[in-house]
Amino acid sequence: MNKVVYMIISIAVTTALMAKVDTTECAGCHGADWSKVALRKSKVVSEMSYTDIITALKGYKANTRGRPMNRMHSQVYKFTDAELKAIAKSITK
Ligand code: HEC
Repeated sequence: MNKVVYMIISIAVTTALMAKVDTTECAGCHGADWSKVALRKSKVVSEMSYTDIITALKGYKANTRGRPMNRMHSQVYKFTDAELKAIAKSITK
């Protein structure tokens, strides 16, 4: 019984980590290859490190970066931390 529960949990976790997160919406502002300055004010995300990106995304989600409830907050609040990591990874690889 315990084994089955463990298996189900590990499958769920693996699926979440592998999930390809859709960044089509992001591309509208940041460019398909993350090389644009969004709305004439963001950094060029493709030049940022993994740590900088994940710190930024988590900050926007927690409302501790930029103005509270800013544009980026509405972009990232719906993602789990695992999904934000997947996004940061996909940008920096
Ligand atoms: C409506 C336009 C828009 C969309 C869509 C958008 N962003 Fe942004 N993004 C911005 C702006 C503007 C900033 C700078 C905000 C600020 O801190 O003032 C920014 C900042 C960032 C930063 C930090 C760069 C910096 O300047 O510090 C990252 C990383 C980022 N966005 C990733 C994303 C991701 C991932 C998505 C999709 C889930 C996304 N953005 C969607 C406009 C957008």
